[in-house]
Amino acid sequence: MRHLTDIIGAFTRGIARSRVSLIGAMIVTVTTPFLVGAIVYDLIWHIQNPYVGAVIYMMLGPAFIGGLVLVFLGLFFFKGKEEVRLFTLDYLRDYFTDPSKFSRMRKLVFFAVFLTGVNMFIMGLLAYRGYHYMESTSFCGQFCHTVMNPEYTAYQQSPHSRVSCVECHIGSGATWFVKSKVSGARQLFAVALDTYPRPILTPVHGLRPARETCEQCHRPELFHGEKLVVRENFREDEQNTPVHTVLLMRVGSAGDRTGSSHGIHWHVAPENQITYRASDHTRMEIAETTLVKPDGTQIVYTNSNVSAEPQPDQEVRVMDCIDCHNRPSHVYLPPSEAINRKLLEGAIPKNLPFIKRQAMLVVQQPYETSAAATSGIATELNAWYQKNYPDLVRQNPALLDQAIRGVQAAFSENVFPEMNIAWNTYVNHIGHGENFDIGCFRCHDGSHESAAGEVISADCNVCHVILAEDEPNPQILETIRGNRQ
Ligand code: HEC
Ligand code: HEC
Ligand code: HEC
Ligand code: HEC
Ligand code: HEC
Repeated sequence: MRHLTDIIGAFTRGIARSRVSLIGAMIVTVTTPFLVGAIVYDLIWHIQNPYVGAVIYMMLGPAFIGGLVLVFLGLFFFKGKEEVRLFTLDYLRDYFTDPSKFSRMRKLVFFAVFLTGVNMFIMGLLAYRGYHYMESTSFCGQFCHTVMNPEYTAYQQSPHSRVSCVECHIGSGATWFVKSKVSGARQLFAVALDTYPRPILTPVHGLRPARETCEQCHRPELFHGEKLVVRENFREDEQNTPVHTVLLMRVGSAGDRTGSSHGIHWHVAPENQITYRASDHTRMEIAETTLVKPDGTQIVYTNSNVSAEPQPDQEVRVMDCIDCHNRPSHVYLPPSEAINRKLLEGAIPKNLPFIKRQAMLVVQQPYETSAAATSGIATELNAWYQKNYPDLVRQNPALLDQAIRGVQAAFSENVFPEMNIAWNTYVNHIGHGENFDIGCFRCHDGSHESAAGEVISADCNVCHVILAEDEPNPQILETIRGNRQ
C-alpha cells in the first residue's frame, strides 16, 4: 500500500513539475465530473436541445481530450528544470533490470493501465454519444438556426419528417461519414465567417448517389402498374369553390418480377442507362441526353432549343431518383398549393368569401423580412375585409383572425426572406409546372431529338391519363366513390 501511495505521489510530482501537465490535469479534473454526468444523462434521457448538446460534445468533450493531451505532453516533453524520472527511458531500464525494484514497477504499470482504462472508457462514451449527437436531426436542422431553418421547416412538413437527415445526406459506410464531416467542418467555417450562399446552392454538390440512400427504403423494381392521384384545389371565386384534378399516373416499374420495366420508373431500371449533360450547374436546361438500351445500342438526343452550350466542366450525370424526386423532403410549395393545403386542413376557413384570391395576392407581395410579412399579411387582409365585408368581420371576427394565421403560416413555411428564399426559388422537378418548362419537360419537351429523328416523347398520355382537370364534381370521382362524397 505504501508503494502505491509512493507511485501516486511520484506521478503527481511528475505532473506538478511541468506547468503544461499541471494545466492539463486541472482541465481534466474540472471537466470529468460534468462530462461524465452529462453523457450519462444524455444516454438515459436523451438531451434534445442542440445547444446543450453542443456544449457537451463540442466544448466539454474536446476540452477533456485536450487536457489529457497536455498531461501527456508535459510528462514527456515539457519537464521542469529538475529531471523527472517518472516514465523516462533510463528510469524504466533501471527498474526492469533490478529485480528488487520490479514489484514497484508492476504497480506503476498497473496504475497507468488503470488510469488509461478509465480515460478510454470516458472517451468511448464521448465518441459514442458524440457520434449520435452529430448525426441527430436536431444538430443538423437546428444548430445553425438561420442557415438551416428553411430546409428544416420544409422537412418537417414532408412525408420524410421522421427520416433523419443523415439517412439521405450521408447514408451508411465510413467513407461517406468522413466526407460529410470534412464538408461539415468547411460549412462551419462558412457560417462562422458568414461566407455561405443565401439561398444555399442546389443541386447539392457531391451528394451521395440517390440509389445508395433512397433504395435503403424504397424499391422501384417492385413497383408496378398505375396510381390514381386526386388533387384538391380551390378556385379564386367568392365561394372558394373546391375543384378536383384526377390523374392516372403511370408510375410503372423499374422491372417487377412478372413484367419488364415500364412507365415512369423505367428510367431507373438496371437495364436502361440514361445520362445527360446540363448547360450549367443548376441542371435546369438539359442540352444532351443519352440512352443506352439493354442491347447496347446508344441513342443521343440533342436539344434543338438550347440557349447555351454546356460549359466544358459540366459533368455527365447518370440519371437517378433525385433528377425527378429532387424535393422528397424539402418541399417548398408554390403559392397556390400552399394556400390550397391550408384551406384543405381547415387552417384557413373555406367559408370566408374570396379568401383564396386575397390570400394569393398578399402572400405574393415582396417582403423584406419574415416579421414584415407576418404584419403585412395581417394588415392587408384586415383592411380588405373591413372594407368589403364589414358586417361579416363584426359578427365573426374570429373567422378573419383564423384566416390570417393560416395565410401567415402558408407564407412562413415556404418563404424565407432572410435566406433570400422566395416562392419558387427551389424548383420541384416531379412534374412540369404550369408552364411545362421544368421537371420532366427538361427532356420531354419535344425538342430533344436523335440523329435518326427519334424524339423524347411529349405525349401527355405517356406519363398520365388526365381523368379530370379542375372540375367541381368530376364524373370519374362519382364513379369511383359510388356517388358517396
Ligand atoms: C428523404 C431524403 C432527405 C432527408 C431526410 C433530408 N434531406 Fe436534405 N436534401 C435531400 C435532397 C434530395 C436534396 C436536394 C438534392 C439536389 O437537388 O441536389 C436536399 C437538399 C438539402 C440542402 C440544400 C438546399 C436545398 O434545399 O436544396 C440542405 C441544406 C439540406 N438538404 C439539409 C437537410 C437537413 C438539415 C435535413 C434534416 C433536418 C435534411 N436535409 C433531410 C434529401 C433529404
Ligand atoms: C429511412 C427510410 C427512407 C429513406 C432513406 C427514404 N425514404 Fe422516401 N419514404 C419513406 C417513408 C417511411 C415514406 C412514407 C411516408 C408517408 O407515407 O407518410 C416515404 C415516402 C416517399 C415518397 C412518397 C411521398 C408521398 O408524397 O406520398 C417518395 C416519392 C419518396 N419517399 C422518395 C424518396 C427518395 C427520392 C429518397 C432518397 C432521396 C427517399 N425517399 C429516401 C422512407 C424513406
Ligand atoms: C423519371 C422520373 C422519376 C425517377 C427517375 C424516379 N421516380 Fe419515383 N416517382 C416519379 C413520379 C412522377 C411518381 C408519382 C408521383 C405522384 O404521386 O404524383 C413517383 C413515385 C414514387 C414513389 C411513390 C410511389 C407510390 O406508389 O406512391 C416512390 C416511393 C418513388 N417514386 C421512389 C423512387 C426512387 C427510390 C427512385 C430512384 C431509384 C425513383 N423514384 C426514381 C418519378 C420518378
Ligand atoms: C434526363 C432526361 C429525362 C428526364 C428529366 C425525364 N425523362 Fe422520361 N424519358 C427519357 C428518355 C430518354 C426516355 C426514352 C425515350 C422515350 O421513350 O421517349 C424517356 C421515357 C419516358 C417514359 C416512357 C417509358 C417506357 O415505358 O418506355 C415515361 C413514362 C417517362 N419518360 C416519364 C417521365 C416523367 C414522368 C418524368 C419527370 C418526372 C421524366 N420522364 C423525366 C428521359 C428523361
Ligand atoms: C414526361 C411526363 C409528362 C408529360 C409528357 C406530361 N405530364 Fe402532366 N404531369 C406529369 C407528372 C409527373 C405530374 C404529377 C406531378 C405531381 O405529382 O405533382 C403531372 C401533373 C399534371 C397535371 C396536374 C397538375 C396539378 O398538380 O394540378 C396536369 C393538369 C397535367 N400534368 C397536364 C398535362 C398535359 C395537358 C400534358 C400534355 C401536354 C402533360 N401533362 C404532359 C408528367 C407529365
